[in-house]
Amino acid sequence: MQALTFVHISDSHVMTDPDRTGMQYGPSLPGTEALIREINGLPCQIDFVLHTGDVLHDPEREEEYQQALELYRRLSVPVHFLPGNHDRSDWLQRALLGREAPAAHADREFEAGGVQFLLLDSSVPVVGEHQGQLEPEQLAWLEQRCAADDPRPLVVALHHNPLSLLVPWFEHIVLRNGEALHEVLLLARNRLRCVFCGHIHESSLTLRDGIPYQSVRSSWLQMQTWFGQEHLYMEPLRWPGYNLVTLTERDTFVRHCRVRM
Ligand SMILES: [Fe+2]
Ligand SMILES: [Fe+2]
Repeated sequence: MQALTFVHISDSHVMTDPDRTGMQYGPSLPGTEALIREINGLPCQIDFVLHTGDVLHDPEREEEYQQALELYRRLSVPVHFLPGNHDRSDWLQRALLGREAPAAHADREFEAGGVQFLLLDSSVPVVGEHQGQLEPEQLAWLEQRCAADDPRPLVVALHHNPLSLLVPWFEHIVLRNGEALHEVLLLARNRLRCVFCGHIHESSLTLRDGIPYQSVRSSWLQMQTWFGQEHLYMEPLRWPGYNLVTLTERDTFVRHCRVRM
């Protein structure tokens, strides 16, 4: 297989209504615009961008996703979007996935550079619910693919952090059935390169049973967490971040990058 490089971004939380940009944490749009400029100026060739959700921040109108589409069209490569807990999956699917009739979930599969990508929609259709969940039919869909006799390297992505980060204040908003997800993923352990997620607004790696779970910084506000942390703590620097991922025949490289604002 040839080397495949893509950019993992997440949690842009774009607020298209100018009246909402004065909220507590400040506007989100400048970070996303800076990130897009940065990605377009990368000195290496990338194949696509993977956005693991919280594309918008609690949208109130479906048209807001059209504005997000216009924004991300500035990127010179395709973007694969997943919804997060602050998104509306049905609206996102129509605008950003081109699905006229949205499915119950935005799950899908594609292949790039000989690598199989499985994208899981962990959002739930309840406004204000920040914990994620995968329905039994989603796990069955995944299990069918993980159990298959497939030689291709595999990458899985979703919005929510599947496993506990041992950060008490964050515990109640990770994926509700992440342990069940991990059991399914073990079926493909030998070819599973990485599970990419967002949600925590921080670049962190959890390695369990040989499976790496890699999150990424936000393009809006950043969190800084540690073992046993009781309360949310914002990183003083607001610099957006992204991860530059390269897959080769044998290796998986994840480079953690920041965009200076
Ligand atoms: Fe977020
Ligand atoms: Fe989130």
